Amino acid sequence: MIKIDNLIKRVGDKVILKGVSLNITKGETVGILGPNGAGKSTLLKVIATLLKPTSGEVTIDGLDLKKDPIKIKSKLGYLPHASLLYDHFTPYENLKFFSKVYYLDNVEERIHKLIDDVGLRLFTHEPVKSFSRGMVQRIAIARSIIHDPEILLLDEPHTGLDQQAIGILNNVVAKLQERDVTTLIVTHDFLQAAKVCDRIVIVRNGRIADDFLLEGQDINLLQKRYQSVVEGDSNAI
Ligand SMILES: Nc1ncnc2c1ncn2[C@@H]1O[C@H](COP(=O)(O)OP(=O)(O)OP(=O)(O)O)[C@@H](O)[C@H]1O
Ligand SMILES: [Mg+2]
Repeated sequence: MIKIDNLIKRVGDKVILKGVSLNITKGETVGILGPNGAGKSTLLKVIATLLKPTSGEVTIDGLDLKKDPIKIKSKLGYLPHASLLYDHFTPYENLKFFSKVYYLDNVEERIHKLIDDVGLRLFTHEPVKSFSRGMVQRIAIARSIIHDPEILLLDEPHTGLDQQAIGILNNVVAKLQERDVTTLIVTHDFLQAAKVCDRIVIVRNGRIADDFLLEGQDINLLQKRYQSVVEGDSNAI
C-alpha cells in the first residue's frame, strides 16, 4: 500500500530523513515511535504529499507521489499537530466545510454520526473556539476521516486527550482496522501504541532503527526494543 525506497529529505544543509525505506501493507496499523526531532512528523508529511522528497521513491497504492499527488491526497486522511479546524465554526459547520472540500454529497447523516462517534453530540452547534484542547482534538479526528480515507496518518493523536477520549480514538482506529484502512500513528504513548498497533517502526536520527510486528499488545517487548535502539541499552533484549 505504501512503498518508500531510500527517501532522503534535506532542508537547507540539514538532512532530516537519511535514506528511509519502508513497505506498509494494506490494512496494517503501524506505530511510528522515536525521540523528539527524529524525523517522524517529517516522514508523515512526505507521505501526506505536504513535503516533497529531496530524493527517493514513494508510491501509494501504486501511484507515484511525484506524479499523482492529487489522486493520492483523495485517498489520505491526515491529522497533524495543528487541528486545521475553523475556530469560529461549529463542529457541524467544520465537517460540512471539509465535506465540500472533498466533493462529498449526502453528508448530513455521516456528519452527525461522526460527531456522535467522537462524543460531541451536545456540542454540535457550539463554536470550536470555546472548546478545550481535547474537544478540539476529537473533532479534528472526525475531520481527518470525513471522506472515508483508505490511509490514515495520525501525528500524536493521543496528545491532550482524556481517558474517555483515548478510548473513543482507539475505537475509531479499531473500526477502521475492520474496514482494512491502513493507519500510521506517530506517538510517544507506548501504552496506546501497544494497544492499537500491529507493527512498530522506530525512527532515530532520520533513519529507521527498528521495525517489528507486535502481537498481543505486548508493551514489554515494545519498551525493551525501544530502549535497546534509542537509549542504547544493549542488555535490554
Ligand atoms: N522546515 C524545517 N526546516 C528546518 N528544519 C526542520 C524543518 N522541519 C523539521 N526540521 C527539523 O527536522 C528534525 C525532525 O523534525 P520532525 O518534526 O520530523 O521530528 P519529530 O520526530 O516529529 O519530533 P517530535 O517528537 O518532537 O514531534 C528536527 O531536528 C527539526 O528541527
Ligand atoms: Mg513530530
